[in-house]
Amino acid sequence: MQQAEKLSKLNIFLEDVKIKDKNFHLRLGANFPIISDLFQKLYSDSPYKEETFELLLKSLVKNFEERSPLQKKRDMTRVSNPNWYCSEKIVGMMLYVDLFNTDFNGLKEKIPYFRDLGINTVHLMPFLDVPEFENDGGYAVRNYREVNPKFGTMKDFEALVHEFQKNDMNLIMDFVLNHCADQHQWAVEARKGHPKYKDFFYFFPDRNLPNAYERTMIEIFPDTSPGNFTYLPESDQWVMTLFYGYQWDLNYKNPMVLVEMIDTMLFWSNKGIDIFRLDAVAFMWKEIGKFNQNLPEVHLLLQLFKLCGQIVAPGVAYIAEAIVAPEEIIKYFGEGLFQGDECDIAYNASFMALSWEALATRNTNLLKKSIKAVPKKPRNTTWINYARCHDDIGLGFDDKLVAELGLDSLQHRLYILKHYCDGFNGSFALGQRFMIEHETGNARLSGSMAALCGLEKALKENNEREIKLGIKQINLQHAIILSLGGLPMIYSGDEVALPNNYEYLNDESKKYDNRWLHRSKMNWSLVENIENSPSAQAQVYKQLKKLIKIRKQTPAFADNNDLEFIDYENTHLLVYKKTNNKDTIYVIVNFSEFDTVFERSLFADFSGDKLYNLLTETDIIIHEKNFISAYDVLWLRK
Ligand code: GLC
Repeated sequence: MQQAEKLSKLNIFLEDVKIKDKNFHLRLGANFPIISDLFQKLYSDSPYKEETFELLLKSLVKNFEERSPLQKKRDMTRVSNPNWYCSEKIVGMMLYVDLFNTDFNGLKEKIPYFRDLGINTVHLMPFLDVPEFENDGGYAVRNYREVNPKFGTMKDFEALVHEFQKNDMNLIMDFVLNHCADQHQWAVEARKGHPKYKDFFYFFPDRNLPNAYERTMIEIFPDTSPGNFTYLPESDQWVMTLFYGYQWDLNYKNPMVLVEMIDTMLFWSNKGIDIFRLDAVAFMWKEIGKFNQNLPEVHLLLQLFKLCGQIVAPGVAYIAEAIVAPEEIIKYFGEGLFQGDECDIAYNASFMALSWEALATRNTNLLKKSIKAVPKKPRNTTWINYARCHDDIGLGFDDKLVAELGLDSLQHRLYILKHYCDGFNGSFALGQRFMIEHETGNARLSGSMAALCGLEKALKENNEREIKLGIKQINLQHAIILSLGGLPMIYSGDEVALPNNYEYLNDESKKYDNRWLHRSKMNWSLVENIENSPSAQAQVYKQLKKLIKIRKQTPAFADNNDLEFIDYENTHLLVYKKTNNKDTIYVIVNFSEFDTVFERSLFADFSGDKLYNLLTETDIIIHEKNFISAYDVLWLRK
């Protein structure tokens, strides 16, 4: 379609639209040609392309009409401060509603707790209606328009949003868009053979095509849900299921699926969601003969989600949940003409995994080498920096870089697993292997922060030295994610060093998935009187609270794309610098239990004799050689 033809189509469509808002028309007008191009690229062969494109436009109009004046006002504030999510003032926590405090009302009651710690952005793990047992922690949605009744009613949810907004807090929704539950109405109809709904999924009459797909795909849960297809005995068919067999992959080759899901996302934008975490996006498009992660069409889809979102709810931001290699993750921020116009935020998963590698080896060489290989991201985009989350830790390092350090990549991974899971070399860590590859012994890793840092075991054994080291490792992880620039995301429970949860083994619906090892019920008794408590948990909490407070007072910790890693040969240390026009902060991290030294020469552009340590609130005199203690982190202002 030519440009003029496209615009005249838009004008015909708009004649019926009653919306007066000039900004809406501007946004729609500016983005319409791009949206229609993207749509054409994806769906030129679809018999329903005309009909679905019109439905998409109608959805934009309807959702804008339904957007409340209050939300529209919030949009305008954000549009005038477009990289609000890069601010040093933003600090996040992710949590399961029920494990945190029972339900939406319980969560609302804990707003003072968030305020005390300094959290103002909360990522709610999936809270929509799901089947009772088989739901992968909420990641198998049965109804996209209803909340999980265990957490309360839609009214309770709305009241929670209202209270969050009153307290200047942001809400992140986990939007599970790659797949839905096999009990979703679409799947129920598809199972009965309804052609419209069969086309919402990838259905196959026999194993021919599934076998062809399998040749080039990997398995996500090889131990517990092998293969990427599930057999449906009642109709003797196969359906594509990359995750668990009860999570049916949605077929985005059908434009109806895209339109439904965009409409759903806008519905939740109108409920007051500030940021969407777009779950498992790397897998959204599949082709025979491909690896089926990060395909180019995934990016076109995400651009469509983002552009449509921007027309209706321009204040909303988007996180790509793609746990993929650095050269792939960077593409989720948009490339070429779309640079900065796809997702605003992505997970810094490589850094996270490498920080655990460095703690296990007491050596930062691979971390430093890998950071250098990460391409620069576009302006106004940022990372979620995190140490733990609800998922396992994948040891996804670049084999080439590991080899360049003279290491065998499999042996290196096996060493890390032994450190975290087997008490190897005196390690106090209590992690467990997740999804073991039986031929090689390679695996991913589960375990809570306190377990992996050795604090859980040290407390059980009342080993004073190890308790100290465990606390210091947790503080180190927190001090890093709060100073890298970007959106730091604390995993609920880590602020009080919750140990592993072994209870999940008594639950039939969970015991096969050891990610539940690090999904614990919050222990509120630890928090009572925490300010006066000398316990290890209280020490972690108080240090985290202090770090958050200092971060928020330090504008150089905002993400202005200015993070600079400093080449420094001491293998125990990681050194980086954050700047803004007024301020320079050096961060020095000791990843080992040994005291060590750093030289004055690492501050290349510094000629003074002292730096101010933000954490101890004292000046430190900089000598030729300076001391840094075990697992210590320094935040030094020039
Ligand atoms: C994401 C979630 C993970 C879930 C998967 C399937 O990776 O983080 O917990 O199992 O998506 O939805």
